[in-house]
Amino acid sequence: MHNHNPLIVALDVADAAQALDLAARLAPAVGAVKVGLELFTAAGPDMVRRLRAAGIAVFLDLKLHDIPHTVARAVEAAVRLDVQLLTVHAGGGRAMLEAAEQAARAEAGRRAQPPPLVLGVTVLTSLDDAALAELGVATPVAAQVERLARLAVAAGLRGLVCSPLELPVLRAVLPRQVQLVTPGIRPPGAPAGDQKRTLTPREALAAGADWLVIGRPILAAPDPRAAAAQILASLA
Ligand code: C5P
Repeated sequence: MHNHNPLIVALDVADAAQALDLAARLAPAVGAVKVGLELFTAAGPDMVRRLRAAGIAVFLDLKLHDIPHTVARAVEAAVRLDVQLLTVHAGGGRAMLEAAEQAARAEAGRRAQPPPLVLGVTVLTSLDDAALAELGVATPVAAQVERLARLAVAAGLRGLVCSPLELPVLRAVLPRQVQLVTPGIRPPGAPAGDQKRTLTPREALAAGADWLVIGRPILAAPDPRAAAAQILASLA
């Protein structure tokens, strides 16, 4: 993707007022904000409405995983909140993925708004080969990521979340128009924290990412807005 601000700041805070304040300060320097399970559980859909009312693009990262009907209804509710990106687990299977994409398009069509980008989450980076084996999945993580990515795209999804290290292989096997959204990004010199395998923002874009999800390097900075602006400048 070109000509867009690819930075998505993860609003990983549990307090609504803090999240809104951060979002308002960061909005001019980022392309979107990510509302995840913690903030959504604490502050609810009203948080998303308030962000949208302020003109801020929202990535609703709830990683939906349920029967197709239930996921479709939840996607419709997310479309009514007017989010720009949302996540579903690719492991929910083809019918669930198709239902999610179809619900996004249909509900957006009814409301005459663009459909959100429904992103497939493949294998959580917290799982390794042994953890997959324990779940009865004998396929190694890398091959399972590729398998679920292909399934999600075959089911009609237009985007995926992936780790920086998965970018080259997914770019090699998926159509170029598939949007790749990547966490695990660290500006040069920033502490990795619990992220084990990171790329810099520039490296991730060069490897084929369309969007970069960044949390602590921005949130923990003395001046988050300046930190975001500096990261954006590093991409030019
Ligand atoms: O603070 P940090 O930049 O590590 O935040 C990254 C964001 O991306 C967090 O919201 C985290 O939950 C999310 N994420 C991740 N790694 C994954 C999937 C999601 O860091 N594999």
